[in-house]
Amino acid sequence: MYVCNCNGITEKEVDEAVRSGAERWDDVHTYFDCAPCCGKCECDIAEAICKSRLAPETKTEAEPLFGTPALGMAT
Ligand code: FES
Repeated sequence: MYVCNCNGITEKEVDEAVRSGAERWDDVHTYFDCAPCCGKCECDIAEAICKSRLAPETKTEAEPLFGTPALGMAT
């Protein structure tokens, strides 16, 4: 879902920006090398940043699928 229509930034892309250190709505624009135009997305991006900060615990639970050695493969 788009959170910034002027620049085509999605919630998923906000997650990416937050993981790279974005802390404020204008940091997200800077991360994608663009600038806020109308400013209508400030609240939506701020909310998406909050969601992203709360989500890492859920995301780390799913990561072992690729990081865990298969049973019987240990040396
Ligand atoms: S919707 Fe993001 S700057 Fe306009």
